[in-house]
Amino acid sequence: MTAVALMVVGCTEKRDADELRAEKLMAKMTLAEKIGQLNQFVPQNSIVTGPDGSPVDVKNVIKEGMCGSMLNVWSPKEIIEYQKLAVDSSRLGIPILFGHDIIHGCRTTFPENIGISCSWDPAMTEEVARISAAEATAFGLAWTFSPMCDVAIDPRWGRVSEGSGEDPYLSGQLSAAMVRGYQGDDLSAGNTILSCVKHFAAYSAAEAGRDYNTVDMSEMMFRERHLPSYKAAIDAGALSVMSSFNDFDGIPASGNKWLLTDLLRGELGFKGFVVSDYSSINEMINHRVVADKKEAAELALNAGLNMDMVDGDYYKFAEELVREGRVSEAQIDRLCKDILTVKFKLGLFDDPFRYGGEGRWEKETWLPEYLETARKVARSSMVLLKNEGEVLPLKGSERIALIGPAADSRSEMTGTWVGFADYNKPVSFFEGLKARFPHNDIKCEKGCDFFDPIEGGISKAVAAARGADVVLMTLGLPNAYSGEAASMANIDIPFAQKELFKAVKATGKPIVILLVTGRPMTIAEESDAVAGLLVTWHPGIMGGTALADIVSGDCNPSGRLTMTFPLCLGQVPIHYNAKSTGRPRKTPTNNAKYVSRYMSTPNEPLFAFGEGLSYTEFAYSDLEVLNPEAKLGETVKVRIKVSNVGKRDGEEVAQLYIRDVIGSRTRPDRELKGFKKISLKAGESATVDFDITPESRSFFRADKTWGEEAGDFDVFIGHDSHASLKGIFTIAK
Ligand code: GLC
Repeated sequence: MTAVALMVVGCTEKRDADELRAEKLMAKMTLAEKIGQLNQFVPQNSIVTGPDGSPVDVKNVIKEGMCGSMLNVWSPKEIIEYQKLAVDSSRLGIPILFGHDIIHGCRTTFPENIGISCSWDPAMTEEVARISAAEATAFGLAWTFSPMCDVAIDPRWGRVSEGSGEDPYLSGQLSAAMVRGYQGDDLSAGNTILSCVKHFAAYSAAEAGRDYNTVDMSEMMFRERHLPSYKAAIDAGALSVMSSFNDFDGIPASGNKWLLTDLLRGELGFKGFVVSDYSSINEMINHRVVADKKEAAELALNAGLNMDMVDGDYYKFAEELVREGRVSEAQIDRLCKDILTVKFKLGLFDDPFRYGGEGRWEKETWLPEYLETARKVARSSMVLLKNEGEVLPLKGSERIALIGPAADSRSEMTGTWVGFADYNKPVSFFEGLKARFPHNDIKCEKGCDFFDPIEGGISKAVAAARGADVVLMTLGLPNAYSGEAASMANIDIPFAQKELFKAVKATGKPIVILLVTGRPMTIAEESDAVAGLLVTWHPGIMGGTALADIVSGDCNPSGRLTMTFPLCLGQVPIHYNAKSTGRPRKTPTNNAKYVSRYMSTPNEPLFAFGEGLSYTEFAYSDLEVLNPEAKLGETVKVRIKVSNVGKRDGEEVAQLYIRDVIGSRTRPDRELKGFKKISLKAGESATVDFDITPESRSFFRADKTWGEEAGDFDVFIGHDSHASLKGIFTIAK
């Protein structure tokens, strides 16, 4: 048998071996013990990530062999204790699977995910996940509830900070990179971790951007905007999925059989297990699709939801439901086997203490190379949106006034969902600048808090500005206004900060805004009034150092927006991949009455998807479609020349968009279908090739099937979603 065939057989045997081992173990298990694997609990009195704590005495449940998994265990020592209890005191000694939210780093915190996405760098994103896994496994975790693959177009929703922006393709590429980084090539290696695709599905489409609100959309919208990102992560090998809080087509995701079984397992071929989001089984009572917890457990079990996060409904009712014939034992077997198979893949049965262990947490975290990577990621995440008069990079000798609520804050570098971060560990903006400019006169004044004035704060800030050559001013939102349960119906800069800004602006000094935020904000007023605008996001543990790298010019900014910044809230939802409508406003100034526009507000956003400045200039030329007459099923190859025509070396993200000129359904005017981040020295050019595959041309056609269609296409390649260099190609039947 050839080596290749042996390898394939080997892989197949490996996969089957884990399932076979699971089946063999299940043959020894009672119904109660099988149900036990479907239960996930938090420790008693644990700091929780949801409305309630544990409904059971977890230690007793572990001894009964009824606790398959735990989350929110807050010390390596406790994990070892719980694992010992399971392995030594339960009848079959089945190890517990410990999970946690490690979404943009574990102890080494990286920028919030929306910031990481602005790097447009899958390899860097994968490295973030690899480091996160290495630190998380040192803690004793074998599972992270990440990547969040939710594609979001509404900045009122606080959880946009946890995702990779508004584009399905980019979000899919980066989500898949995180799965690869977390799971590596060997899930049982002990420094890799089980990933979890969340929140399935379409959670980000909550009406009015209000968290947990109703989600309702066409199948076309779901399949074209939301599904591709989940699918890309599953195709990358993710072995767990988390069902979302929201209803989907009128049925809550945690009880939605079409979502969790027909689509996820049937159509997408998902082989892992599904965990409910925190108390989302119980919450089906609030959704008013079930009358009580027992009915909720029945609906979830029959929908194909493997694991009950925290509610204890499976623990309390599953056996009864089987006895009453409302849930089959075969279904329990299926749900249990999925979980046990993954536990075998993780190596938990070979060594239940493979993850964690005395002293690993202290020795294997905050490593210098991890901090250096965090610095690189933070630099790549920052997006320069204005730079009039080349106010940046600083010339070097300037007297600097650093002003604002995040100016000297270590904790506000951290962002949301950072359970294991040390809030005192990050480098603040002030510390980063002082280290980089040791001889400069740098005055730092908070001026105000994020939402409240500080007594005398404005006058001190104004005095600092008056004595400076340039003002770096942090505006934005605190960590707590990113992430879950952080929706906002107003995304302006808070009033206290506006007052501070107005006073500092009145000094006439050049200002560069440092926007510290986990979401796009409505900042037109402030942006119009300053020379420079740098979106720093919550940049992570090395935020201050990365900021200094950028403003000093040591690093040329390369971040590009992955989410649109609206001109005003009234435009929301607003996104680049909009459709033409039947009455398009053909130009931004076309004020004809009967066109799709507002009476007094432009259609265009403040800053568009893909935008971001550099300290150098890039030019695009010689766009060439190598096979402009292609056929269905063929890949179209496109080539472009990118030149660095400025004076500095830099990185550019060449972006490729297509327009399906005529489709059987309405199609977006532009869709991102390729991007390449390239480094170019000043004066250097490079040729970049793109493939436009049949899959990338596919959509949810009028006959409700997914696939491509013959016809004409435009292709645009350039610096951002306004790319104007155009080519055309035709796909013949
Ligand atoms: C939370 C979040 C989810 C997280 C889970 C566990 O409610 O919605 O993203 O993974 O609970 O903390």
